[in-house]
Amino acid sequence: MIPNQWYVILESNEVKKGKPVGFTRMGEKIVAWRDSKGQLSVMSDLCPHRGVALSVGKLNGDCIQCPFHGFEYDTSGACTLIPANGHNAEPPKAMHIKTYPTREEHGFIYLWWGEPQKEYPPLPWFESISEDMVYTTLRDHWKCHYSRAIENQLDVVHLPFIHQSTIGRGNRTLVNGPVTKEESKCKGDNLLNLWTYNESDNGQKPKKPSEMPEPTRRPSLQFRFPNVWQNWIADTIRATIAFVPIDDENTMMYLRYYHTTRTPILRQLVGGIGSLANLVIERQDRRVVITQRPTRSDLGLGEILISGDSPIVVYRKRRQALIEGKEK
Ligand code: FES
Ligand SMILES: [Fe+2]
Repeated sequence: MIPNQWYVILESNEVKKGKPVGFTRMGEKIVAWRDSKGQLSVMSDLCPHRGVALSVGKLNGDCIQCPFHGFEYDTSGACTLIPANGHNAEPPKAMHIKTYPTREEHGFIYLWWGEPQKEYPPLPWFESISEDMVYTTLRDHWKCHYSRAIENQLDVVHLPFIHQSTIGRGNRTLVNGPVTKEESKCKGDNLLNLWTYNESDNGQKPKKPSEMPEPTRRPSLQFRFPNVWQNWIADTIRATIAFVPIDDENTMMYLRYYHTTRTPILRQLVGGIGSLANLVIERQDRRVVITQRPTRSDLGLGEILISGDSPIVVYRKRRQALIEGKEK
């Protein structure tokens, strides 16, 4: 994991009022719940009394109640009641649950993975997705580390093979470039812009990234660290993915299809067809990517890379720099 980042971990509607829900994210068992005002709390799913999962407990007013001996905790993780000691007794300060800083935006729940900060960086997303766009979400589980799933969405060499029957039609096997540019609007913002130039192989030599002209059109793909990506299909259509880390060997993909059709029935129809197409393409990727070994990507894996893999190299280098705490 890259430390000190906002990670998309869930969609807001996965945590409803009135019921705690348990998940595994970043290799940790967490419980998410809302108090009576809808205020979200994400905390370690472990009662400090005797180790029971709070997610199988219930809510009592603005507190979560452990199912084992009824201890209650508020949204800050502080114990407010130990029934066996009587409701007038003050629970010890040590009876406290680890909570995570969270934010809700764009229909997602973001979790801060790292040291608490005085000032947090902006939440990673794409400002080009305007408020008047609507979306449909599909979730899909991949049995691999989230870094492998991300790299697959930066891999332009695989298109005519994995996606021969869909987006890779036309046998454009020759990879010119691709061109990857890093961008940062402020501290803590790390964006990769990617342009593709695949074409049919007529015996010509592919151009290296350094031989490509400066791109004048908008990028085809964008990835914002640590875990969101968009395919800019058209100004009114986007496919996005949040690569949510479950643990070292499992990832939950949150695939969204964005469009601007708002008429009620048409909206569902367009969203449904777009999402289905997304899923078909993504399943073509999943079948192959989950076989990669090791399941997690890194610098110095010993893979023998080619010029067309350059976006993956850029991603690995930036990721490593961020893990080491080096800002651009
Ligand atoms: S284990 Fe939670 S109250 Fe005892
Ligand atoms: Fe793909």
